[in-house]
Amino acid sequence: MQQIVKLSEKLGKDESTMDSMVSPLPSEFQNPKWILKNIKGENTVVFVAETNGKIVGYSLGWISQPWSYKAKRGYICDCFVEKSHRRQGIGKALVKAMLEWFKDKGVECVEADIYSKNIPSLALFKGLGFKEVSKRLRLTFKR
Ligand SMILES: CC(C)(COP(=O)(O)OP(=O)(O)OC[C@H]1O[C@@H](n2cnc3c(N)ncnc32)[C@H](O)[C@@H]1OP(=O)(O)O)[C@@H](O)C(=O)NCCC(=O)NCCS
Repeated sequence: MQQIVKLSEKLGKDESTMDSMVSPLPSEFQNPKWILKNIKGENTVVFVAETNGKIVGYSLGWISQPWSYKAKRGYICDCFVEKSHRRQGIGKALVKAMLEWFKDKGVECVEADIYSKNIPSLALFKGLGFKEVSKRLRLTFKR
């Protein structure tokens, strides 16, 4: 759990450099208590990639039925691979494991929010068949 939390903190830092609105401080989803509580339930899952006893990547997601959706949706919240282990197929394997898990659970679709600047992640998800469904627009007030 400590290794997963460390990786999720690195992901949080990456996201805060990509998005000025994202705090570099750990979020609720990076809290070990939140992760433990939820993975004990039926609807949240974490997959890890391990080499030589060390966790070098993880993916985290859950199933829910968001407001206005007509059926259950799988949501991939996190997918992170240590820099030293990238481009070896680990990220793809972590997302594919999650897709299989969602499929077995009977969800109708799977979604992920990816920053427009995040070229590696966009390529990974699009390569697995994901299609863009919306664009989030933001106006930032100058203070
Ligand atoms: C996105 C990320 C998880 C990919 O992990 P990875 O293990 O390097 O990915 P893989 O080796 O499995 O690559 C799968 C596909 O992703 C794409 N891809 C991965 N890295 C890429 C890069 N730097 N540039 C372009 N495409 C890339 C390619 O299409 C690749 O397929 P290919 O190797 O057959 O060309 C990893 O770069 C990462 O942890 N990034 C920081 C965290 C992040 O942004 N997470 C996503 C949002 S939650």
